[in-house]
Amino acid sequence: MNLANKTVLITGANRGIGRALVDEALRRGAKRVYAGTRTALQHADERVTPLTLDVTSASQIQRAVEEVEQLDVLINNAGVAIYDDLSNSVAIEQHLAVNVVGPLKVTRAFLPLLRRSKGAIVNNLSLAALAPLPVIPAYSISKAAAFSMTQSLRALLAGQGVTVHAVFLGPIDTDMNRGLEIPKASPESAALGIFNGLEKGEEDIFPDPASQPMAEGWRTGVAKELERQFTAFVPKERGEAAANLESRP
Ligand SMILES: NC(=O)c1ccc[n+]([C@@H]2O[C@H](COP(=O)([O-])OP(=O)(O)OC[C@H]3O[C@@H](n4cnc5c(N)ncnc54)[C@H](OP(=O)(O)O)[C@@H]3O)[C@@H](O)[C@H]2O)c1
Repeated sequence: MNLANKTVLITGANRGIGRALVDEALRRGAKRVYAGTRTALQHADERVTPLTLDVTSASQIQRAVEEVEQLDVLINNAGVAIYDDLSNSVAIEQHLAVNVVGPLKVTRAFLPLLRRSKGAIVNNLSLAALAPLPVIPAYSISKAAAFSMTQSLRALLAGQGVTVHAVFLGPIDTDMNRGLEIPKASPESAALGIFNGLEKGEEDIFPDPASQPMAEGWRTGVAKELERQFTAFVPKERGEAAANLESRP
């Protein structure tokens, strides 16, 4: 999907990759960029509309939906990563709330608009969704779960004209991995890679130098083949299943 004249909503838009995605969407000619943030945001470009949006808050999600008239692309970018060793249940629950349940609720809330525009959902995942990074196991669990959610949404919404994209990010130079001395790509180049993948229609996007070498092996591998085979189990009346997604608590 080409971003020119499109309306885009990005969660976690105040810093890191989210902030870079806002600027890259503007550069590509987006008509309106809704910047979802937990704290007030100011942006010089008048095409940016700030939205107060904590993805774990049902009331903020509801209010955000009421402020958006039209939407072509939803980017579920907001996320947390906390170092743990799986001994802390609170850390696991927090990752699941922000990285999995939040994006699912946001997606369901904006689905009517996305269905109307035949739009796209982009979920910012991680290479840790494919194999756990054992120094952040709770984060890895949440990203693997968010990937599974992405695959199911993709299958359920295929008949509705809404595309669902997984982004497998490698290390990007943001607050999230500050202090980790490994090669990292810039958030600006990651944003570029994400939108390039979306414009090429890639359902699985590998946007940076660490992730790109995985792309070919992933796309021709057994796990991807199994995803395609399992998609065939979605009933022909997909409309019915997908139509119910947003109407249940
Ligand atoms: N950086 C990497 O190396 C890397 C690698 C793989 C995947 N990713 C993924 O890329 C996405 C962006 O990461 P980043 O590196 O840009 O991280 P970041 O710089 O730490 O920014 C995280 C963003 O998420 C927001 N956020 C956190 N909890 C939220 C909530 N409950 N509701 C709404 N927004 C919330 C933060 O808002 P506040 O400012 O209010 O906290 C911030 O805008 C994440 O999903 C992350 O998992 C990053």
